[in-house]
Amino acid sequence: MKDTVRIFDTTLRDGEQAAGINLNGTEKFQIARQLAALGVDVIEAGFPASSRGDFDSVRSIASEIDGPIIAGLARANEGDIRRAAEAVREASRSRIHTFIATSPIHMEHKLKMSPEEVLRRTTDAVSLAASLVKDVEFSAEDASRSDPEFLMEVFTAAIAAGATTINVPDTVGYATPGEFGDFLSRIMEGTEGSEKAIWSVHVHNDLGLAVANSVEAVRRGARQVECTVNGIGERAGNASLEEIVMALKVRRDVFSVDTAIDTTKLFDTSRMVSRLTGVHLPPNKAIVGDNAFAHEAGIHQHGVLCKRETYEIMHPKDVGAPETKLVMGKHSGHHAFAKELESMGYSLTDQELKRAFSLFKELCDKKEMVTKSDMEALVVDEILSVCPDRKFSVKDFAVHSGRGRATAAISLIDGKDEIHDAATGNGPVDASYAAIRRIVGIEPELAAYRIISASEKSDALGEARVTLRHDDMEVQGRGVSTDVIEASIKAYVNGINRLYQTAAARGVEIVRQRRAV
Ligand code: KIV
Ligand code: ZN
Repeated sequence: MKDTVRIFDTTLRDGEQAAGINLNGTEKFQIARQLAALGVDVIEAGFPASSRGDFDSVRSIASEIDGPIIAGLARANEGDIRRAAEAVREASRSRIHTFIATSPIHMEHKLKMSPEEVLRRTTDAVSLAASLVKDVEFSAEDASRSDPEFLMEVFTAAIAAGATTINVPDTVGYATPGEFGDFLSRIMEGTEGSEKAIWSVHVHNDLGLAVANSVEAVRRGARQVECTVNGIGERAGNASLEEIVMALKVRRDVFSVDTAIDTTKLFDTSRMVSRLTGVHLPPNKAIVGDNAFAHEAGIHQHGVLCKRETYEIMHPKDVGAPETKLVMGKHSGHHAFAKELESMGYSLTDQELKRAFSLFKELCDKKEMVTKSDMEALVVDEILSVCPDRKFSVKDFAVHSGRGRATAAISLIDGKDEIHDAATGNGPVDASYAAIRRIVGIEPELAAYRIISASEKSDALGEARVTLRHDDMEVQGRGVSTDVIEASIKAYVNGINRLYQTAAARGVEIVRQRRAV
């Protein structure tokens, strides 16, 4: 019999909770589809009680994504649990994941509850969840800083009330591998009914030990690990899915377990999540970074040429890393283009595909060669990230910059109106953003601005990313073009549209500080 470890992916919940990440429903759906193709066992699709938007996207993933179990997170209270049950109802396999903190510091200062109350809440929450769905996961938040005796009591109660998976989080990323392994073994041994549950871990990366702690937990008997693509998540992030999966696979001699992951899809999944979230990967990121398989030193190159295994413990194709970057050119047809996008995990409607193909053809006229990365940048920034009900779009722009102050003249479309304005600034981007602010009549704070190239060479597509703050909303905007000023303008306008979209989802209105001219 195969001994398998379940991969519980929380990219769309814990990952999406990270500062600066803000995915819309379409983007979450693309990721969920790719996670299903990757072979994850569980997709934690969101926290339905946290917002209308989260509820809707969990519900749409539950009703349309087949294969993995679809989980919704809920605090240990009736409102959250009923909302989660409602959101995952349509899934062929659904799960409610309910949690409450068990550490002294969380119980006293955050929950303001006694241990007895937490114990009672655990039983009530799990019993209610078990009356609504068959599959219930219970997590003791901050488990690794909890009193082991109390934790065993809580887990015993959760299993008795119907929890089928018991999760032991290292919420603040404080544990070290040996200590975490010993702790888990002790808890598993001392919990009554332990054998009826699947034991799971959920580790944060504050000390850079998330993957080490997770795989050590597997060695000690955990059969579910919670993780995110590229390790995105709160603060320093969560344990990285691709690193855990490849550690278990490459060192099967140590762990003796399998996962259901199709590892050849890891690279494309990682790139998709990076593009959609705007979180870039360091080149030396294990498994999926640009340099993960690059050999620079002469001695290494020589070794690899003589025998690959001298310096490579896995083959790039094991994780789906491309061996060549050139994929398409101006003679490529619609069919080949659509197939390539599909193989990268993108699913577009016919209309979106038509638009993507025409953008691709335009790009082929401007650029010597079009890479997979260029195609992905076009699809994400020009199709998937565009707000469906966008308020503003860019009609035209003209900038002038030299050694003195730059000037920019911008025309935006707002509904049926075309509005123009101009401004000066400290460089062309600053001037363009000032002109846009005059048109839209709001002054969002530009919390971050970055421009990167989607590929090499000076004719590369430039991808601009901005983070805008307005009232208590924070959104990301994205834009792409071979002209970096145009990319920057598109990103800013996309961010403003996302502010309007977020405000609409919250049922609030954005008040213009000045009238457009
Ligand atoms: O980090 C944590 O403890 C969590 C729980 C909700 C599982 O994310
Ligand atoms: Zn977490």
